[in-house]
Amino acid sequence: MSIKPERFLKSLHDLRQFGSSGVGKGVVRPAFSDADIAARKWLADQIKDAGLTPHFDPVGNLFGLADGPSILLGSHSDSQPEGGWLDGALGVMAALEVARSSNVPVSVVSFQDEEGRFGVTTGSAIWSGNLPLTQADALCDHAGVPFAEARARMGDLAGDFVAPSRFTGYIEMHIEQGPTLDAEREQIGVVTEIVGIRDMKISFDGQQNHAGTTPMHLRRDAFQALSAFNTELGERFQNVVTPCTVWTIGHVSLHPNASSIVPGRVTFSMQWRDGDADRLTRMEGIVRTTAKEIASARGMEVSFGPLLGLEPVDMDTKLQSALAGAAEQIAPNKWRRMPSGALHDATNVAKLMPVAMLFVPSINGVSHAFEEDTDEADLVAGLRVLSGAVNTLF
Ligand code: GLV
Ligand code: MN
Ligand code: MN
Repeated sequence: MSIKPERFLKSLHDLRQFGSSGVGKGVVRPAFSDADIAARKWLADQIKDAGLTPHFDPVGNLFGLADGPSILLGSHSDSQPEGGWLDGALGVMAALEVARSSNVPVSVVSFQDEEGRFGVTTGSAIWSGNLPLTQADALCDHAGVPFAEARARMGDLAGDFVAPSRFTGYIEMHIEQGPTLDAEREQIGVVTEIVGIRDMKISFDGQQNHAGTTPMHLRRDAFQALSAFNTELGERFQNVVTPCTVWTIGHVSLHPNASSIVPGRVTFSMQWRDGDADRLTRMEGIVRTTAKEIASARGMEVSFGPLLGLEPVDMDTKLQSALAGAAEQIAPNKWRRMPSGALHDATNVAKLMPVAMLFVPSINGVSHAFEEDTDEADLVAGLRVLSGAVNTLF
């Protein structure tokens, strides 16, 4: 049997109907939302039709299990609050197409909450042992909903955790989500390593007050503290970071968020990423010291939420070679080896078995946005490389 590109593309377009944003091909399908749960139930039917056994674990990870030992392929089907149609979905639907058409045993997975509504790659982090379930259950999303409450929404579907020993390795196909392949007009990236990440919530508490009567020098304004923190942090990072290091304050909750009130409290996400674990630790020290000094200089309190993180990981050399060999056949002179600046479930799975990843280009390097897209010819080239690599492994 050979892969059927039309069937693969149709299944990808079918999946984007769940949580369709109505803007371009974008999707709104965060973990455990109605759209996410409906998509997972639909995927379970697709898995069954492909001749695999669908299996939900206690945290919403959906497996399609082959009989006996198999290679595991997949990614995630949840999205960012404003997400693209391919981030995660591509790896899951490519996995399913390879499982349908391969002569070797292939299992499929769609991990839950890769996009971090609750943590960082939550579902695969729990499965791999990187995040204890009791700790995960206490994590809350930005609206204060605990993970335990969210996963209970899928409780009626849940079986046991799947034994990782069923699988001989894991390969994840994904869009690059950055500009390199698109800019170089290349079709395939064979991933060498995935960067590490640290992520936590920080709060500044000051004094909520009247915006007309409170003199500037008496204010303990949470927004002003955040603004000063952001500027100071950028300056203090300069001696520590490289051009590859990134940091982001992506979610800010200002209280009470009203034009005529000096804000008394702000809680915000603080995330930083780098390929060097020591650098991540040095940056943590700077984050904490800067926040404490900013708070103390303004007569405010600072508090830190739990620090979540994943270490940088290298991809398995044998699996990388299989992908590189297939890339050279399918896209000669149009592929490269490259690191991943985005996080992936593969990071967690690397704790359990050999893992590798391949990328296809993202048009204009855009992702985590409704505009995210990839030429269909590149999607199909990636599918062919994945399928070719899997078939050389046995
Ligand atoms: C995963 O989506 C990431 O944030 O890198
Ligand atoms: Mn992803
Ligand atoms: Mn993502």
